[in-house]
Amino acid sequence: MNNKCVSPMMFHAKQENEELLFPNRCVLVNGPVIVGAGPSGLVVGAGLKQQGVPFVILERSNCIASLWQNKTYDRLKLHLPRKFCQLPYFPFPENFPEYPTKCQFVEYLESYAKKFDIGPMFNESVQFAKFDEKCGLWRVRSVRSTDGSVVEYISRWIVVATGENAEKVVPEFEGAQNFEGGVIHACDYKSGSVYQDKKVLVVGCGNSGMEISLDLCHHNAYPSMVVRSSVHVLPREILGKSTFHLGVSMMKWMPQWLVDKMLLIATRLTLGNLEKHGIKRPSVGPLKLKDIAGKTPVLDIGTLQKIKSGDIKVVPGIKNFLPGGVELVNGQVLEIDSVVLATGYHSNVPSWLKETRFFSRKGLPRTPFPNGWKGEDGLYSVGFTKRGISGASLDAIRVAQDIATIWKQETEQINQVLAITSHRRLESQF
Ligand SMILES: Cc1cc2nc3c(=O)[nH]c(=O)nc-3n(C[C@H](O)[C@H](O)[C@H](O)COP(=O)(O)OP(=O)(O)OC[C@H]3O[C@@H](n4cnc5c(N)ncnc54)[C@H](O)[C@@H]3O)c2cc1C
Ligand SMILES: *[C@@H]1O[C@H](CO)[C@@H](O)[C@H](O)[C@H]1NC(C)=O
Ligand SMILES: *[C@@H]1O[C@H](CO)[C@@H](O)[C@H](O)[C@H]1NC(C)=O
Repeated sequence: MNNKCVSPMMFHAKQENEELLFPNRCVLVNGPVIVGAGPSGLVVGAGLKQQGVPFVILERSNCIASLWQNKTYDRLKLHLPRKFCQLPYFPFPENFPEYPTKCQFVEYLESYAKKFDIGPMFNESVQFAKFDEKCGLWRVRSVRSTDGSVVEYISRWIVVATGENAEKVVPEFEGAQNFEGGVIHACDYKSGSVYQDKKVLVVGCGNSGMEISLDLCHHNAYPSMVVRSSVHVLPREILGKSTFHLGVSMMKWMPQWLVDKMLLIATRLTLGNLEKHGIKRPSVGPLKLKDIAGKTPVLDIGTLQKIKSGDIKVVPGIKNFLPGGVELVNGQVLEIDSVVLATGYHSNVPSWLKETRFFSRKGLPRTPFPNGWKGEDGLYSVGFTKRGISGASLDAIRVAQDIATIWKQETEQINQVLAITSHRRLESQF
């Protein structure tokens, strides 16, 4: 199968260079520049606000948390129970359910930004950032989507909070140009209502692929889901307790391999044997696989039921596209009307941050969790831990604390210098 992904490396080739992004205007920032106004950027902002440290947040979209507001489907609910998704310093409202809806979560984020008086600069897409060794400052250039003008922000610190999901991954398929139906990425999928009575191929079997397939069922479409390799599907709850929570609790008492084993036994008992439905389990346990490959297990919210009843078909990998369908690797030809690519996302950091010691070529910190939040020369990163909102929050608290400490020291030194000079000036006046 020809299934090449657009790798972050390709951005290097077509990136705008320094000269093309010559700034129309420069802004000297007291405090850090934070890139991205998702949950990560907001928590750093809240932490800094509480310590009286000023900052600037640059956000390419025209609202906060644009991943949640503009790139998720309507029926999305938080995958993890509420206590693992609320942000530091400001809890969820009492009346939130165990699994808040996307709307509730967005509402909460809006009130979070309001509570801490965080006002990001919107429509500012950062396309270049480099540490200037000569003056010891970061030069961060952003392009305004409203008029194309370039602004350079100059600052001692930069906080990278652009997320693990900044750009969609779009695989290339042989014959894709011949396909006559519509093809969208999961980030543009809102609801199955437009697919009624249609045969839809969902490519990918992570949480998004599984849930979109289920949503298609609920809207009387005919989904087929491509499961190319193996995947861990766990029930969202085991005996009424959140599986995620159980896993986290057990890890305090047992080695990871034993937790994995117990989770798999419980899964087998609740969900049965999935292999006969075309869903193969990886040989490595779910928590271990998360650790070594960053692959999140799928938490089932009803998709398996629909697979067992045959409402969702599970099919193997795609060989190539045809005008009215696809040919699969097993030679089977499938007639389809539309395609939804639930093929994931990648970081965009390598496309704009001119730094390669701290960030890998994939745009993730090289140092693993929990130590991947601080680089050199005032570089920080938040939200690249593959641990969702709770992981991002831990990063953010540390980053805000660290910057606040340094900022206060430096501000105090400057104030002392200013006090001495003004004292001298006063003295010389007499
Ligand atoms: C469908 C889906 C469901 C999820 N469900 C959960 C869940 O239930 N629980 C959980 O913990 N996690 C969940 N996640 C993971 C989720 O992405 C993170 O938990 C959370 O959104 C990460 O926040 P963030 O601020 O790091 O990144 P993001 O939310 O992606 O925010 C990054 C921001 O940076 C902006 N940006 C990017 N590049 C630039 C640039 N060059 N210049 C300026 N701005 C830029 C983006 O526009 C965006 O607003 C889910 C993810 C997806 C896709
Ligand atoms: C994102 O969604 C919000 C809320 O619906 C909306 O106000 C905003 O204009 C949208 N932004 C984009 C870029 O689509
Ligand atoms: C951002 O851009 C949108 C669309 O171009 C525009 O409607 C909005 O007013 C802009 N917002 C800001 C704060 O510049």
